Amino acid sequence: MTGERARADGSTSRANAGGVPSGSKRDEIDRVRKSLPIALAKTRLMEEIRKSETCIIIGETGSGKTTQIPQYVYEDETLTNGLMIGVTQPRRVAAVSVSRRVADETGTEHGKLVGYAIRFEDVSSEETRIKFLTDGMLLRESVIDPLLSKYGVIMIDEAHERTLQTDFLLGTIKGVQKLRRKSVEDARGRVLPPLRVIVMSATLEASTFSKFFDGAPVVYSRGRTFPVDMFYTEEPEEDYLDAAMWTVLQINKEEAPGDVLVFLTGQEEIETLGKMLRERASKLPANVPTLNVVLLFAALPPEEQMRVFEQTPTGTRKIVLATNIAETSLTINGIRYVVDSGLSKMRTYHPRSGVDELLVSPIAQSQAQQRAGRAGREAPGKCFRLYTEDVMPSLPKYVKPELLRTNLSGVVLQLKAMNVDDILSFPFIDSPPKEALLRSLELLYALDALDDEGKLNDVGRKMARFPLEPMAARCVIAAEKEGCTIETLAILAMLSTDSVFYFSRDSNGQKNVARHKLMRKEGDHLTLLRVFNEFSACSAKRSRDWCREHEVNHRAMTKAAKINEQLTRSALTLGIKLKSCDDNFDAVLRSLVAGFFMNSASKDMDGAYKVFTTGQKLTIHPSSVMFQSPPETILFNELVRTSKMYARDVSSIKRSWLSELASKTFAKRARPQ
Ligand code: CDP
Ligand code: MG
Repeated sequence: MTGERARADGSTSRANAGGVPSGSKRDEIDRVRKSLPIALAKTRLMEEIRKSETCIIIGETGSGKTTQIPQYVYEDETLTNGLMIGVTQPRRVAAVSVSRRVADETGTEHGKLVGYAIRFEDVSSEETRIKFLTDGMLLRESVIDPLLSKYGVIMIDEAHERTLQTDFLLGTIKGVQKLRRKSVEDARGRVLPPLRVIVMSATLEASTFSKFFDGAPVVYSRGRTFPVDMFYTEEPEEDYLDAAMWTVLQINKEEAPGDVLVFLTGQEEIETLGKMLRERASKLPANVPTLNVVLLFAALPPEEQMRVFEQTPTGTRKIVLATNIAETSLTINGIRYVVDSGLSKMRTYHPRSGVDELLVSPIAQSQAQQRAGRAGREAPGKCFRLYTEDVMPSLPKYVKPELLRTNLSGVVLQLKAMNVDDILSFPFIDSPPKEALLRSLELLYALDALDDEGKLNDVGRKMARFPLEPMAARCVIAAEKEGCTIETLAILAMLSTDSVFYFSRDSNGQKNVARHKLMRKEGDHLTLLRVFNEFSACSAKRSRDWCREHEVNHRAMTKAAKINEQLTRSALTLGIKLKSCDDNFDAVLRSLVAGFFMNSASKDMDGAYKVFTTGQKLTIHPSSVMFQSPPETILFNELVRTSKMYARDVSSIKRSWLSELASKTFAKRARPQ
């Protein structure tokens, strides 16, 4: 192999030109590297890795898996065969920061020997041998190069997170391994060596991965950890941001030196707590440490993210406010105290709109353990849980794989876009039920995303690239034809948020007149559109009053406006034209029918409704505009089961639209069962 080996002392001139650490910083890096648990287990670990094509490594967070193992593997040419090492990460942030760290450790300029690739950003070159990339990026590379011929070793990191992309990648990689065993040649006619795979995980549940890779050996590297004292709240916290603030202030006042890591759910509240703490910080008495508040979430610009790794000067205490990024994918030194909200954002399928949504939900026990563990890496620590102790046993043991919680038609569409035509034979690590996959295929065909042979067509390719579930994405494509993309995108954005209406009546039991004026007789969808348009027409200042007057949830509206912006941007990127139909509301309803036709029902003899495709009986929800004057045929977006089955977000549609716009399902046979 031709590439120059990184020199341990980092003294090459090229390296120094890149602003690479030298002298004492180098020594410090070497000292830290040698003392990591992974370094102490190096010999045994490398023996195992050499022995088998695939191997699973389980090690405590911070033990050195991500930063060290790629370097060890790089040193052994019998493993790489001079090809690249790809290390995947579920998070963009981790890919960037870890690759920078490894570049530092190898004493080379970032982007040369060690680089990274994430969407819209590629910091790698011809010389790159260790490449960090998101799972999604490697999946994309596998579409272009199905043999992954540039790689000798693939390391799938953070596998315990079980994100949709990681699970996909595991299946894809297994297929590539199979191909590579047959001594295939790359584009230049060189015979490719078998593809080595190393799966790395921070939690102990290894058997799933081992079984999936035909009994691959599991290597445990037990890190050294210190005891962590646990504290719980006595009562459930009503406002955990407030509770978090007081906990931090108390730690700062009473506890020995050491930094604090606070786990929250997302950018918005991290920023809010950041502000709250900084205000307090300026008023602290002289005898307590100064607070140095730093934030860590995915959307933070890289330079700012780096601030969390800076050392804390004496007399100050670093307070890191983070999302679950800091759970296992990034290790921050110096943390002695952890404050855990017990919550995180989880991607969950939103049946109302067919949109995947990030929902705040309680964490799993394995996550609670990981979070606490961050306090005991360098010395004994303390973990303050902002929930009661009896909550613990009710939490799920492990995070449920994303693959099993999301709607599958999106997954199947993505697989098709990756040229996996035979979905049923795809090796899923956790197999979704076969019927679920078949139903998804049927739906995609009915949505015109697949041709008669089950292959992806142009409509399907566009849908696959739109950040919405297939049914909703189909509405956007239909809207372009109907000339109403602007209106349809607004409605889809409204459907993607929580309910915007407060269901209250004022003290006299009177209807809110202002609100009532927003109702549109055509149905709830067009009512949502009117709400969106009137809200958008308000100035930022006026919008709050407007919401109050109409009993509309301001927070939900702000979110809808944001989602609408994102959707609009995606549409433009895909070359979908923005058009308005003004008052031609049929066009809007038709575009919704083209995507959501499965959710249509007609009035039965008894006055109840029956869903065309499933025969499901239902009633219009009293909150719907359509409740007073039920039409013949309806389209709805959500089913709520209470004493009866209720349909919410209901509009009146024409029966003929169904056979015209969803001909595969409705033209030949309307099949009430
Ligand atoms: O992957 P794993 O959680 O096992 O550990 P790692 O990410 O390889 O981290 C090993 C060590 O490198 C830890 O002590 C980290 O604090 C340190 N590190 C660092 O100081 N700066 C970084 N940007 C990344 C890691
Ligand atoms: Mg790691």
